[in-house]
Amino acid sequence: MSKTATSVDSETNNSTYRLNHALEAAQKQYTSKNPNSRNAFETAKNSLPGANTRSVLFYSPFPVTLKRARGALIEDIDGHAYQDFLGEYTAGLYGHSHPKIMAAISDALKKGLTLGGPTSSEAQYASLICKRFPAIERMRFCNSGTEANILALSSARAFTNRTDILVIDGSYHGGVLSFAGESPLNIPYPTHRIQFNDSEQAAKRIRAIGSKLAAVIIEPMIGAGGCIPGESEFLMTIREETSKTGALLIFDEVMTSRHGATGLHGMLDIRPDIVTLGKYLGGGLSFGAFGGRADIVDRFDPTKTNAWSHAGTFNNNILSMTAGFTGLNEVFTTKIADSFFIQGEQFRERLKSRLNRLGLPIHLTGMGSMMALHFSSTVPTFPYAPTPIQHKIYELIHLEMMHLGQFYARRGMINLSLPVTVDMCEEFCTALIKTLERFRSEITEALKI
Ligand SMILES: Cc1ncc(COP(=O)(O)O)c(C=O)c1O
Repeated sequence: MSKTATSVDSETNNSTYRLNHALEAAQKQYTSKNPNSRNAFETAKNSLPGANTRSVLFYSPFPVTLKRARGALIEDIDGHAYQDFLGEYTAGLYGHSHPKIMAAISDALKKGLTLGGPTSSEAQYASLICKRFPAIERMRFCNSGTEANILALSSARAFTNRTDILVIDGSYHGGVLSFAGESPLNIPYPTHRIQFNDSEQAAKRIRAIGSKLAAVIIEPMIGAGGCIPGESEFLMTIREETSKTGALLIFDEVMTSRHGATGLHGMLDIRPDIVTLGKYLGGGLSFGAFGGRADIVDRFDPTKTNAWSHAGTFNNNILSMTAGFTGLNEVFTTKIADSFFIQGEQFRERLKSRLNRLGLPIHLTGMGSMMALHFSSTVPTFPYAPTPIQHKIYELIHLEMMHLGQFYARRGMINLSLPVTVDMCEEFCTALIKTLERFRSEITEALKI
């Protein structure tokens, strides 16, 4: 017999009653513990919309205002310290204030900023990046991951003399390239979407768009959309089909280039035509880069006739070039990158088995040092929009974890950084398990709907 709307409503209310109640209590506790952050939030609202200039940094009821950080510890303006398992959404790979990077930045400062000409720092860093990432024969710097992806897509359209792009539904490639829902701010490229990890659909769509398709842009592991690894058959299908139709394959490795010594494309042994980079590769400063096949990137060569022009006042800014180079050359060496990947895998497996023992509908997905929690009964294989109830669970667990001194992303993303120790990992796992156990019945009741 089908349920009436009223009986569904009252069942929903009953099953979320305890969750709502727990969330209200957690919000109250958080608000009373963070009066300075709350005031800072209220004041900043006068000039910044919602006190925010970077959408991802907002979480309800208001984010804590951060004061300083060192290693993998962060402090807010109310005097609380947190273990940093956010790692600045992967940009904070080196932790905060790595001494080698700090020394390199101070040295660079002494030589002067914004010199207005090429310096040896960009050439030195470009050479290291080209050696490190197998698909990058030639490259260019810019200032953010968003810019790198815009330039990669525009280059692909110019190179192929085609118009359309194909993206993964639910993916994120930057502030104006957001494909989770419909963003009115997106660049109006003619855009097609496919579901992540659906090889059959990918092949069909690439063939159907045919000679109009300039590029497919894809993260080999979806980052912001839930740390969901791409299945190798899926990625290989896209590689093969784009080659057949003459479209370019762009791997957005803004986050995933931290996986192993050669980035995720190197680890998977797939050769995209263009790779985009960002985040940690700026050594903690603003950064973006794109590179790939020499015959594509060489179109920017200003000594050639009809070269593509790509200016950018801060493309070669000395601080990002120096910090980025020192980080990759001296800290995140190929050896460290390989062992850091293994360390991440081991941490995820440990946490996963403890989560499994809880018997709750929770999954942990990811690769290496990047992972994400999902409150669902099945392991997600493509990005999805969380339901309002899942949002509430994420909020409850996040606020309670902050209460226990653990800092990670509201949406469940956890990123390791180099200074995170085994003891810190253990403390994080224990806090998470304790929190989930405490709210076991609220979660199970609410997710039964
Ligand atoms: C996969 C991916 N691409 C691109 C970007 C955009 O980089 P940026 O924030 O430096 O513009 C992000 C940022 O989170 C990202 O995760």
